[in-house]
Amino acid sequence: MPIYIIEHLDRTVYQWSFFEYRHISKLVGKKNLWITHTKSSRLKEFAKIIPQSVLDLDLKNACILDPLAEETLTPEDNFEYYIFGGILGDDPPTEKTKKFLSSKSSLPTRNLEPEQMATDNAVYMTKLIADGTPIESIPVVTDVELDLREGESVILPYKYVLVNGKPLICKAIMEKLKKGESF
Ligand SMILES: C[S@@+](CC[C@H](N)C(=O)[O-])C[C@H]1O[C@@H](n2cnc3c(N)ncnc32)[C@H](O)[C@@H]1O
Repeated sequence: MPIYIIEHLDRTVYQWSFFEYRHISKLVGKKNLWITHTKSSRLKEFAKIIPQSVLDLDLKNACILDPLAEETLTPEDNFEYYIFGGILGDDPPTEKTKKFLSSKSSLPTRNLEPEQMATDNAVYMTKLIADGTPIESIPVVTDVELDLREGESVILPYKYVLVNGKPLICKAIMEKLKKGESF
């Protein structure tokens, strides 16, 4: 089983990121999830925490997932480590993965096609591909409209994997959005 690594890049661990990281742990298992470049002790509950940057770990057979990578990830790639940017998404995307992660490393890079995904969904799609499913066989939806309250909705400007026909949106995030609470 490969290791999935989130290089935490934001100033702090925002509540949104905390929920996504916890969701990722449920999707890949605690022992397969490392979160690097953070000392946040509350993440220890569901991941291995490494204070150094992943770029200082000198990993072999590792790749960085970046929407701007030239090659798309395939099951044949078979990496041991998959590295993701722990950064909140932005709309339109501002190339943060490239700026803060892939341009600073000589590791190979792969995309999951160009549309920006939520980090938990990028990890889940990578896991499906690493487990042998080609990307074209994974059902997805882009720009999900989420009904919040009567007459109120929000568009999440990301690509999501469909599981049993429904976008894989973290329950804790959905509940907070529906309650109108800020993150
Ligand atoms: C919410 S995304 C942030 C993307 C950021 N807005 C940017 O422009 O790079 C968080 C992480 O998920 C992964 N990711 C999201 N969409 C991806 C895609 N289409 N291809 C490869 N990796 C992706 C990347 O590792 C990225 O750093």
